[in-house]
Amino acid sequence: MCGIVGYIGNNAVAEELFAGLKNLEYRGYDSAGIALNDNAKIEVFKASGKLANLDAVLQKNHVEKYVSHMGIGHIRWATHGAPTIENAHPHLSNDGNLVLVHNGIIENYKELRQELQNKGVVFHSQTDTEAAVHLFAEEYKKCGSLEEAVRNSLPKLKGAFAFVIMHHNEPDKIIAVRKNAPLIIGSGQDENFVASDIPALLGKVSQIIHLDDDEMAIVQKDKVVVKDIHGHILNKKLEKVDMQADVISKCGYAHFMLKEICEQPAILRKVWQKHIQNQQIVTDDAKIAVNWDKVKKVVIVACGTSLHAAMVAKKVWEEWLHLPVQIEAASEFIYQTNLLDENSLVIGVSQSGETADTITALKLAQKFQAQIMVLTNRIDSSIVRYASSVVPLDAGVEISVAATKSYMAQLAAFYWFGLLMAQKMNKISASDMAEKLQNLMQMPEKIEEILSHQEYIESVAQKLAHHSAVVYMARGFNLPTAYEAALKLKEISYINANAYPAGELKHGPIALLDENMPVLALFEQGQTAAKLLSNCEEAKARHAPVVGIGGRKASDIFDDYIETPEVEACFSPLLMCVPIQLLAYFAAKTLNREIDQPRNLAKSVTVE
Ligand code: F6R
Repeated sequence: MCGIVGYIGNNAVAEELFAGLKNLEYRGYDSAGIALNDNAKIEVFKASGKLANLDAVLQKNHVEKYVSHMGIGHIRWATHGAPTIENAHPHLSNDGNLVLVHNGIIENYKELRQELQNKGVVFHSQTDTEAAVHLFAEEYKKCGSLEEAVRNSLPKLKGAFAFVIMHHNEPDKIIAVRKNAPLIIGSGQDENFVASDIPALLGKVSQIIHLDDDEMAIVQKDKVVVKDIHGHILNKKLEKVDMQADVISKCGYAHFMLKEICEQPAILRKVWQKHIQNQQIVTDDAKIAVNWDKVKKVVIVACGTSLHAAMVAKKVWEEWLHLPVQIEAASEFIYQTNLLDENSLVIGVSQSGETADTITALKLAQKFQAQIMVLTNRIDSSIVRYASSVVPLDAGVEISVAATKSYMAQLAAFYWFGLLMAQKMNKISASDMAEKLQNLMQMPEKIEEILSHQEYIESVAQKLAHHSAVVYMARGFNLPTAYEAALKLKEISYINANAYPAGELKHGPIALLDENMPVLALFEQGQTAAKLLSNCEEAKARHAPVVGIGGRKASDIFDDYIETPEVEACFSPLLMCVPIQLLAYFAAKTLNREIDQPRNLAKSVTVE
C-alpha cells in the first residue's frame, strides 16, 4: 500500500529518497512527498498523483540547494481523505519542527483529533496520520526528546503503524517504530536507510534489520540502536538482503505483468525441483509443523486472487483427500460462527504476507487453538508471525499490481501440498502418486506452448476490448479460473467482467446477453464439457459472441477459440490461468491502460 523511505548519510538526500520511492512505486499510490531536515528548517515537498509530479515540484524548488544529511519520503494510497497535497505525507507539526511519514491506520484518530483540538491544536488534513504528528509534537514540548516523545505517545495510538520521524532540533537521528506494519532498516557504510519494503533498498545496502512489532530504531549515520517499547536495548541480527536488483527491471518486456506471466514455466520448474524427488513430495519438515493425525477439517482464508487459488485447492483436495475443505474470504471469516478447534488446520494464503484481512482472520483462528499454516511469497512478512507452519511460494518478487506468477505459485503449492497431505494421511497409492507427479512435471512445457500463442490471444483480446462488459463461465475445476479471469480483466482493463458457474447463467445472468456481451467459456476434459457446450449454444442463441478456451475445439459455434494442451481436468487450472491472464493483459494494452499500476489498487492491502 503506502511506501516509506528514510535516509541519513552523506549523499544527496532528496535523490536517495526519490530513488527509494521509485522502487516502491509498484505498490500503488496516489500522492507522494519528501521532507528534508535542512539546517534552517524542515523542508517538505509534496505532490498529488505520480512521482513525476513530485519530481517537478523538487526541480521547481531547486531541491539541491538544501543542506541536509537526512530525510524521509512516502508514497500514499489514500484511505482517510482524498489524494490531495494536504493529505499527502510527510506531515509536519504546527511548530514546523517534527515531521513524519506513516503506513497503516490509526483507528482511534477521531478521539485523538478531538482531544488535541480541545487543546487548541489546528489540523490541516483529513488524515488519521496527522493526529500522531500533533500527539508526538505535544509530547516533545513536555520532554524535549524525540525518542521519549514517541515512546510516551505510543500507548495512546490504536491500530497499525510504521512511523518514520525526524525533529529539527535532533538533526543526527531518524526514529523508526512499528506495530502491525512492516519496517526495515538498511545498514550501510556511514549511511543508513529505513524502508517499508526491501525493493526500496536494492543496490543500496546488503544488510538489513527487520523491526518487529513494538520495536523502535534510533537510526544515525554511523549506528543503529533498536529498543523495545520500554527503552531497553535489543540485540537485533543483521540479515543479508536476499533479493537481486533485476527483480525491479522489466528485462525488455513492455510491462512487469507480461514479464511475470512469462516467468511462470520457470517458477513451476523451480518449485517442482524443490518439492518433487524420487516420486515423492519432499519438504523442509522444520517449517511444516502440522500434526497430521489431528487434522479433521481444513479451512483456507485469503483475499482476491489468493482466494481464487484457494478455491482451486478446495476442488482438488476434496477429490484427492476426501476431506472437507472450507474456503472463506478472509474479510468475512471474522463474522462467521467459527466451528474451529485444535483439529482444524487453518491455512492463510497471501502473496504479500501483509494483507490485513487475512492476518486478522488468522489471529482469530489462533484463539480457537487451530493449527495455522501460511502460504506466502514473502517469508519476511508480517503474516508468518501467526503461523506454526510456513510454505514459501518461491515466485520471486511480484512487481505488477495484478497478481499472475504468484497465483501460479500458489496453485503449485496447493498441488504439491495436497499430495504431501495425501502421502502423510496414507490416501494415495504409489502408482497414483507417480501419475500425478508426471502430470505436474509436464506443466511447464505445456504453459510454454500457450505462451507461444500470444499473437492469437492478443487478437482475441483486441476484440474484447471493444466491449464494456463480458461474462466468463465454467464448470468444475475451472470455475475459480473463471472468477480469476473476471477479476484480472476488471482490475487492469476496467472492463466490467463477471464470472458464473455455467449452469447458473440461465437462472438470471442470461438476461444480460446480446450481441454486445461476449461470453467466454473455460473448457476442461470430462463430464463438464458437454453441458458447458450446451451453455455456449444458449449464449449463441442470444447473439452473444462466444469465445472458448480449453483443449481440442469440439464445435464450430465459437467466434474464437484459444486452444490449450489437453490435460486431466484436475490439473487444468494450472494451464487455464495463462490464457486468461494474457487476455486481460492484451485487452488492457489495447485500451492503453496503466497495466502495472491500475487505478485505485495497491499491491499489498494493509487495511481492513
Ligand atoms: C489481484 C490481486 C489482489 C490480491 C489480494 C490479496 O490481482 O493482486 O486481488 O490477490 O489483494 O493479496 P495477497 O495475496 O497479498 O494477500
